[in-house]
This record gives sequence, structure tokens and C-alpha cells, in this order.
Amino acid sequence: MTKNVLVLPGDGIGPEIIAEAVKVLECVSQQDSLDIAVDQALLGGVAIDATGSPLPEETMVKAKNADAILLGAVGGPKWEALDMSIRPERGLLGIRSELELFGNLRPAMLYPQLADASSLKPELVSGLDILIVRELTGGIYFGQPRGVRTLDNGERQGYNTYVYSESEIIRIGRLAFELAMKRDKRVCSVDKANVLEVTELWREIMDDLAKEYPEVELSHMYVDNAAMQLIRAPKQFDVMVTGNMFGDILSDAAAMLTGSIGMLPSASLNKAGKGMYEPCHGSAPDIAGQGIANPLATILSVAMMLRYSFDQGKTADRIEAAVSAVLDQGYRTADIYTDGMQRASTSEMGNAVLKVLQA
Ligand code: IPM
Ligand code: MG
Repeated sequence: MTKNVLVLPGDGIGPEIIAEAVKVLECVSQQDSLDIAVDQALLGGVAIDATGSPLPEETMVKAKNADAILLGAVGGPKWEALDMSIRPERGLLGIRSELELFGNLRPAMLYPQLADASSLKPELVSGLDILIVRELTGGIYFGQPRGVRTLDNGERQGYNTYVYSESEIIRIGRLAFELAMKRDKRVCSVDKANVLEVTELWREIMDDLAKEYPEVELSHMYVDNAAMQLIRAPKQFDVMVTGNMFGDILSDAAAMLTGSIGMLPSASLNKAGKGMYEPCHGSAPDIAGQGIANPLATILSVAMMLRYSFDQGKTADRIEAAVSAVLDQGYRTADIYTDGMQRASTSEMGNAVLKVLQA
């Protein structure tokens, strides 16, 4: 049966990196007879410009009907002055929420070829392989009430609500434990249980879940300490599970350990395993249109799509091996460039991956 992939290039460098990833998807789809059909739609700033909404109805309908979604990135200075409720980011949050993509997998893996590009010493990061499991459809990102109100004394006050219900914690916790079973069987749950009741409940539920997974070793860490430990001794972690906002922050930090956020893919899954796949980096408006962005995170997101949504682990392995091969060949986009390497533009990098796949 044909598998429908919806592509949402978005803003900034989004269209440039997506173009390379789609080439890779189409190449392996043909080679491995995967019968994948690709459609496109608007999300984010480009959607605001064309329709007035960051998440047009047509996009939502296509997203619901698709078997998997590949997203570039959204947002940019052009839309920053808009009201929060219609900014590009709202389109992204809307699609995550509407499709209930609660489980966000953000692997931070160091390619040995890039050890010198990391901001940490090679011995601290060599062999690094962390999986951050971030809750994506709840927490303070979505909690009600929220807004900016005017107090009786005339002063304005901004407020958001940090809330997690038991079922939300259980489903993300379970996902983390299940994934840990396929890895090194260690889960570190990150919270702020010394201050926030919501994460006190989070911790209690993680402890309960751990009883169902006796083989998995569960530890707890406060988020401030976790941020420090990621930079001090990142190899101590296997799976980290945390809420929406802490996961947003920690995953950027973890990404940088690997040399560049331009290397990190992600998957956002719902309970049926339907997924949206996107690079962890943003739209990088400062370098948009220059053809210098690193397409590898998006290409690796295609590999995650094949693995998690389409159960095509072998094809996913081939893409990941091709990425590793182009790094061996010395190709480097600006973000991962070190002396003596071969400078590559966005499309040169994409083409190098294709060449390996076709060899
Ligand atoms: C991410 C991004 C988004 C988030 C923004 C663009 C809304 O930072 O995917 O990490 O905060 O979730
Ligand atoms: Mg982020």
C-alpha cells in the first residue's frame, strides 16, 4: 500500500534542508521499492503569508491523512511582531497537539568523525549516545490559564500554568522505559521535584512505572543538576525522560555536545506510532537562503521516519551509514567545519549522501 508522506518545508533554512532530505527519501524509496508518495503543505510563517494562519485547515487535513510528516523548521524575525496566538511557532505546536504527538525522541549521538567539532574535550564525548525523551503536548507549553493580564494596580502580569495529569506522565514514562529496554536499560527522569508539585507527582509516577520494568535502572535528577551533568560528564546518561520545557532546553544542550545542532534528528510520535520527523534545530533565519545550512539532521530524520513509522530499519540503517560515509570522506558544512576538511554547501552535502546511497 502506498505510504503518504506530508512534507512541510516551513521557513528560513527549512526549504533548503527539506529539498535534500526529500531527494534522499525518493532515492531510497525507489531503490528499496517502498512505495512512498510525497505531498507538500504550508506551515508556519509561509502559511501566515499565504493564508493568514500558521496552520491552515488544508494543512491540518493533509497532516491527519498522512502516514508520516517531515518538517523543516518554522519561524523568523519577519513574524516576531505578530500576536503570540498567530505566530509561526503556534502552527508547530498546533500540529503536535492536534495529532497528539506526545512522545518526542531526540537522540544525541556523536559521530566519531566530529569529535573535534564538539565544544567539549573529545574524551568527554567520544561514544556519546543519549536519547532524550521529551513530553511534547502538555506541561507549561499548553497549560491553562495563560496570558497577560492587568492587575488592579495597573501593572501587567504574564502567567502560564505548569500542569501534568497522571495519564500524560504515565504514557511518556512508559515510552521512555520501553525505549530503554532496547538500549542500555537506564532511565534518568529529570524534574524539579524540590520546588514544583507537578514534578513531585511526575517523580512518584516514574517510581511506580519502574516496578513494571525491573531490568531498567531508574534514577532521578533535578533539572539544574541535569544541565550541569550534561556538560560535566554527558556519557553517564542513556535515556533521559522529562517534561516539555525542560526537554526543550536540555535537548539543545545535548545537541551541542555532538558538535552541532545541525546533526540532530527527532521523531514525535503518537500512541499509534504515527510520527512527525524534524531536525532539532530551528529555522536559522540568519543563514537562510545562503545554501550553507547542514541538511544532515533532516536526512537523519528521514531515517527515523523509515524506522519508526514504516518499520524499514534496513533502509534507515543505509541512510545513517551514508551520512557516516560522507563525514569519513571529509565533507563538512560550515557548522561542523574544522581545518583540513572539505567545505560543502547544503546541496553538495545532500548530493554526497545520494552518491553513497547510489554507489
Ligand atoms: C523545538 C523548538 C520549538 C519548541 C519551538 C520552535 C516552538 O524549540 O522543537 O525544540 O519549543 O518546542
Ligand atoms: Mg527547542
